Amino acid sequence: MTVETVSTAPIEGQKPGTSGLRKKTAVFMQPGYLENYVQAVIEGVGGVKGRTIVVGGDGRYFNDKAIGIILRILAANGAERAIVGQNGMLSTPAASNIIRKRKTFGGIVLSASHNPGGEDGDFGLKFNISNGGPAPEAITDAIFASTKSLNEYRILKDAAPSLAALGETRLGGMIVEIIDPVADYVILMETIVDFDRIRKLFESGFTLRFDAMHAITGPYAKAIIEGILGAPAGTVVNATPLPDFGGHHPDPNPVHAAELFRLMFSSDAPDMGAASDGDGDRNIVLGRGISVSPSDSLAVLAANIHHAKGYRSGLKGIARSMPTSRAADRVAEKLKVDLFETPTGWKFFGNLLDAGRVTICGEESAGTGSDHVREKDGLWAILLWLDIVAARGQSIADIVAEHWRTYGRDFYTRHDYEGISTASGDQLMADLRGALETLPGRSFAGLKVASADDFAYEDPTDGSVTRHQGVRVLFANDARAVFRLSGTGTEGATLRVYLETFEPDPSRHDQDPQDVLADVIAAADAIAGIRERTGRTAPDVIT
Ligand code: G6P
Ligand code: ZN
Repeated sequence: MTVETVSTAPIEGQKPGTSGLRKKTAVFMQPGYLENYVQAVIEGVGGVKGRTIVVGGDGRYFNDKAIGIILRILAANGAERAIVGQNGMLSTPAASNIIRKRKTFGGIVLSASHNPGGEDGDFGLKFNISNGGPAPEAITDAIFASTKSLNEYRILKDAAPSLAALGETRLGGMIVEIIDPVADYVILMETIVDFDRIRKLFESGFTLRFDAMHAITGPYAKAIIEGILGAPAGTVVNATPLPDFGGHHPDPNPVHAAELFRLMFSSDAPDMGAASDGDGDRNIVLGRGISVSPSDSLAVLAANIHHAKGYRSGLKGIARSMPTSRAADRVAEKLKVDLFETPTGWKFFGNLLDAGRVTICGEESAGTGSDHVREKDGLWAILLWLDIVAARGQSIADIVAEHWRTYGRDFYTRHDYEGISTASGDQLMADLRGALETLPGRSFAGLKVASADDFAYEDPTDGSVTRHQGVRVLFANDARAVFRLSGTGTEGATLRVYLETFEPDPSRHDQDPQDVLADVIAAADAIAGIRERTGRTAPDVIT
């Protein structure tokens, strides 16, 4: 074995964002780019000597080559063992599970989640710590600091082993253990939901369309839904992971999963529709003629979680990201458990889960998860929905309607303005922040502002404070508009505007959120001057 120490210089812009480092694939493929960053990660986490690291990704273009390089760097830095998904594949929640189950030091997860893949697409790298969750800011800050002072990286000259054959091989002084990416995940799911009950549901003729979007959940969903749960072949579509996701964005929203949405609103709709994203952590659930908003999904799952065997001991608390609707708050209040409002980004849930303060967490960005891992988990959410449908013997539409009757409905929508210039995005947010104090008492599009602030979060477990997490405007009628810039893009800026209003009256629940929210949408535009500043007349994506 020969360790090569390569002189290098810091590369600008290797700053981890909401979910690790995300860049264009071509940027990651520049000579030394990945090598520098991986070495910086190693320094930032305090070294890997004698440690075990899980490595896997969503199979997007460059996944396998990147893993080869990463393994050579880990070995050169003295890691004892790397646990790698076969062919380099591990869904993000499955990686989290392996880190926890095997009690490893951490893991390197390769993905740009729901962003497109391929040579012209996006790539990403995220470090997860020993609890299985994304590294908290203290660590990502240390990684970023390392990227700025790095002057060499260490890499093994030896070629990395093939990732195809299960079992152990050696790479220098490090053991490379190739594992079945699906097996441990299946074992975990079996402890949470009742496979027999769901199997009976399918036996009774229940129909599902699961769209894996040519991404990582294909093999997991095939094995569990069609294999173990006995759903007919063809239930899981687009099940083969492709390096470019078939040229699509693997994002389960109405734009990128348009075919699934169309089907679910047609006369041929199955009982349930579902999809996950590139790396398997997001989910969307649809019933016949209804798409369950992620915010509602969190609330319904929390209210029904006692049906699932994994949660019989009850719910400790619920956490949601700030822009997620307040539907979950109403469930928490009724169940008399704590509700935590955190900044956007799954990493903020980690401490609450570790401290046993919450059982379930969710985000408006199609993410739901629980204390079973430390990532959101797309397939888990879909299996939990199936288990609840099986337990209650009702359709998804009926379960949601009943939920709204009990708790009221939080009408919700998110409007995204994609690819605006970074300068105009920053300016818009800066001006909003500058105007915060002047907003209360003023009216916009007929709605009076009750309060406005820039969201800051104090983590109740360690007291750390995170500021500037988005501007919240609360109106006198309790409607809300939230503004923030996306932290996951790789080009320009994306403005996200989150809009919601509460309706307790069941006779008014069956309306289109865009209609119900028309005044909140107009008020948000008037407050932030979105059309004027972006030159856009309509959002690019509405979820
Ligand atoms: C990723 C994170 C989520 C987060 C989302 C927000 O998917 O894992 O936790 O909610 O990004 O993305 P944004 O583009 O709004 O920053
Ligand atoms: Zn994802």
